[in-house]
Amino acid sequence: MQHFTSVDDLSSFKEPGFIDRLFRRAAHLKDFRKSGWGRTGWNAWPQKTLEGRLLITDFYEPSTRTRLSFEAAMNYCGGRVIGTENAAEFSSAKKGESIADNFRVISGYADIIVGRFRHEGEAKMAAEASLVPVINGGDGKGEHPTQALIDLFIINERFDLMGLRRPLVVTFIGDNYHSRTVHSLAKLLSMYTKHIFYLTPMGMQDDDSRFWEVSQHKKYANTEVEATHFVRSVEKNVMESDVVYITRAQTERHDATTRVLPFVFSPEIADKMPERSLILHPLPRNAELPEEVDKNPRAAYFEQAHNGLFVRMALLEELLKGMT
Ligand code: NCD
Repeated sequence: MQHFTSVDDLSSFKEPGFIDRLFRRAAHLKDFRKSGWGRTGWNAWPQKTLEGRLLITDFYEPSTRTRLSFEAAMNYCGGRVIGTENAAEFSSAKKGESIADNFRVISGYADIIVGRFRHEGEAKMAAEASLVPVINGGDGKGEHPTQALIDLFIINERFDLMGLRRPLVVTFIGDNYHSRTVHSLAKLLSMYTKHIFYLTPMGMQDDDSRFWEVSQHKKYANTEVEATHFVRSVEKNVMESDVVYITRAQTERHDATTRVLPFVFSPEIADKMPERSLILHPLPRNAELPEEVDKNPRAAYFEQAHNGLFVRMALLEELLKGMT
């Protein structure tokens, strides 16, 4: 049984070439949808690869893209979904039930579970207690491994990572320490990067954020990491970046007294990026990414979000493959 609670789990997926195969399948599904699912409509789609399978979505934190794209993915593959979008209020968590007990119980009702958790580490706790595969849809400021696959998918579409001639330069701008999407993507990307810049506006850093930024990459060779809390150098960094990955201030994870100095990725800064580069954001966005940037040809965040459906269809197929 294969859980997916961290991008580190990818190394334990049995066959080599897992990401390559996943992305080829997701790209096929993306094309197939463009053709109207083979013009038969999704309901008549003959490839109901997950027919008879049941997914539970068990979400302790708000979500739009992760929950709905997983639910859509399962439905498009012919499977079924039950779940709760507010487990903190509407499940027995309200009566003091632990994550472990919750997953021990509900894993008896389904073939696979996608969970979103309020605290780092809870996805692993859930997986340890579960009788079926658990996918981490985000655990506090920990990880968000499926979002990282979705991010890597669009980067691969643009830069063909398998045939990459030179490693990438990537700039993360925003709440890097508290953003689980950054944590997972930075790890996953380290294989393909030569330089990662972390630009973390004042007020979003934490006591141990510098430690995190450096230690995150220690085990990956060949990637240089530069971290700064001053966004003064932003223009210089974006001018040499293949990918700029922006995140909102994760105010729900800050302590109430934190004063965040806002940073805005303006259309003028976006124009300074190389022509073939990408502007990504896991969404939702706030003031850090104004709507005027949407017109920039490098802006790819809505396509990035839409790709979530295809990557998650392919992932559900992979995790449920061969399981009775
Ligand atoms: C992100 C998350 O939940 O971590 N959203 C997502 O799943 N695409 C980003 C965020 O909340 O800022």
